[in-house]
Amino acid sequence: MPMHKPLTASRSARLSGRLHVPGDKSISHRALILSALATGRSRIEGLLEADDIMATAKALAALGAEVARSNGAFEVSGQGVGGLRVPGQPLDFGNSGTGSRLMLGVVAGHDMKAEFTGDESLRRRPMGRVLAPLTAMGLRVESKEEGETTLPLTVCGTHDLIPIVYELPVPSAQVKSAILLAGLHAPGRTSVVEKMATRDHTELMLAHFGAEVLVEGRDDGTRVVTVCGDAEFGRASLSVPGDPSSAAFAIAAAAIRPGSDVIIEGVLMNPTRTGFSETLREMGGRIELLDLRGEGGEQVGDLRIQSASLKGVRVPPERAPSMIDEYPILAVVAAFAEGETRMEGLSELKIKESDRLRAIAAGLAACGVVARIEGDDLIVEGRGEVKGGGLVETYMDHRIAMAFLILGLGASAPVTVDDTRMIATSFPGFAELMTKLGANFT
Ligand code: S3P
Repeated sequence: MPMHKPLTASRSARLSGRLHVPGDKSISHRALILSALATGRSRIEGLLEADDIMATAKALAALGAEVARSNGAFEVSGQGVGGLRVPGQPLDFGNSGTGSRLMLGVVAGHDMKAEFTGDESLRRRPMGRVLAPLTAMGLRVESKEEGETTLPLTVCGTHDLIPIVYELPVPSAQVKSAILLAGLHAPGRTSVVEKMATRDHTELMLAHFGAEVLVEGRDDGTRVVTVCGDAEFGRASLSVPGDPSSAAFAIAAAAIRPGSDVIIEGVLMNPTRTGFSETLREMGGRIELLDLRGEGGEQVGDLRIQSASLKGVRVPPERAPSMIDEYPILAVVAAFAEGETRMEGLSELKIKESDRLRAIAAGLAACGVVARIEGDDLIVEGRGEVKGGGLVETYMDHRIAMAFLILGLGASAPVTVDDTRMIATSFPGFAELMTKLGANFT
């Protein structure tokens, strides 16, 4: 990899303007994967053109699904469920946990051997959570050491997968989706039981493609998602809404800079993804939903954000799945609020692109913010004002980089993040878009 690319953010005047954020990362991965499993040529508008998604596109191409850019959209020629071919090279997912875990589910249903690998950050992340259910279905893992569960790994899929009923031990949409994707290849029904609802893009998109998928909500809040195996479905047209996890950075910047007024168009409003906006509203944030509409099986809206004085709140653990990627930026917002913000039940943050719990706490400390970790909780003492002036280490984590650049826009002294290269994994054009709104980056 080339040299680090640091960037400095300085206190900015009010932010204003209209913008579109790039396409949703979760939906983009699924759009490519399901298109590759469909029969016929699917068309995807608004696909996120970021490194994580391009890694999934390359992996699918190596497996025999043609992926091509055409008239501003992407077209994928699907090979039908079970129709992918043995790859001639290792499948490299770069920084992407989602791409690698979902594709393990796909490869599980094919009679093939494939090597999965990724960058330094991905090679540290746990794959055991998907390998456990997938090996119960029939996937075999060939690793140097018995029980090895980190990449690189060589796996052998099979045409004879066994359908399972699996209760998720952790609230993870990646694990749920890997099992459902494998289940498409197994005979009979494969079910995933989740006690806490996680993002439901896989089930919504399967229905959009015309695959048989059943979702049962039980009285105790448990959801059971079932796919019918030996599936066959045809091509679809898809349109990817703006990513609420990317929008969160612009929302936060407008919320903390006095006098700001920003409109973000076409943001995904799926209720399994709106925890950040909900929390910001509880803090006193002014977010208006202007036009809620349905697009391709998902809800989409325009958001207007105006600055406001914010107060600290308690964020309950049940909310974590609906805003799991937004805690870095929420912690930054909390630093500008008055009073304590207590974010509870964040064990999953420790195994993201970095150990985000520690990365957030260290970054806040470097910027003069009082914060502490208590078990799996993060507590930030908001003082309305943030000193800044620090150098923040980003640990190969795009969201840590973006969150602390936003912090710098409101801090008394400029804030430098050590590396911005990873921002390209999820939000290409972040600095340019924010600069257009009035952000001061150098
Ligand atoms: C994702 C699920 C979440 C999230 C990730 C994207 C997905 O991960 O953090 O950025 O697209 O399914 P977990 O499944 O590990 O919670």
